[in-house]
Amino acid sequence: MRKILTQTGLVGDACSEQPRTWGLALAEGAAVFLAAVNTAGDVFSKLEQGVCTLYDHLARFGEFQDVLAVAAGSQPSAVQPWGWHPLVETEALRAGLLVVYRFGRIPLHDHPGAHGAQRVIAGRVRIQQFEEQPRSKPSGSLRSLKLAVDRELAEGGTASFAPGKRNIHGLETVWPRAVLLTATALPHREGERAWYYPVPLRPPDRSSILVNRVCRRPSVDHLKAKRGWDSTPAFFKE
Ligand SMILES: [Fe+2]
Repeated sequence: MRKILTQTGLVGDACSEQPRTWGLALAEGAAVFLAAVNTAGDVFSKLEQGVCTLYDHLARFGEFQDVLAVAAGSQPSAVQPWGWHPLVETEALRAGLLVVYRFGRIPLHDHPGAHGAQRVIAGRVRIQQFEEQPRSKPSGSLRSLKLAVDRELAEGGTASFAPGKRNIHGLETVWPRAVLLTATALPHREGERAWYYPVPLRPPDRSSILVNRVCRRPSVDHLKAKRGWDSTPAFFKE
């Protein structure tokens, strides 16, 4: 037996077998995910393997199925256009179930300085991931973003990001609503996040978009007023 995961505040006795308790499953799954951040090799595949291991550890437990049932049956509210059902929230790691509702979307936003990964548990979701153009000079709130990933994820599908790499992303349900397990290492603190809204200006090339970077969190009314989307790259057009 050995003690694990003191850096997350989740401490347990680890065994070589599958974790036997919910607390151990959380601790060991979180440890595997955090280890991926500092492991050499393809950081994206490591993070995605990490979130899948976290899922495998948790899904057998009634505690997880209870949270999943609540998430799957939840409704959007005026202050929360998407659902968030936390499983772990420490300074080192934030993990939980994200719900993107039917016809819903989460506009482009960043995760400054963080590593993260998502695994689709139910539904289908479209994810677009961008990076700031390395040589673009910010002009006020205007930024140039380069499209890095644009794909549809079905159940079991994964996506990930790292600091400065695919770190700005947006999600939209394909059918009917999507529930994702998401894990973020060294998550941002409140007030550090920004949102990015495409503007109708000609981008520098076809794989880029120009956006306004704002710190205002979008409301349900704001998203409803801006409903309807065009093809890429105006997918998250304001
Ligand atoms: Fe995100």
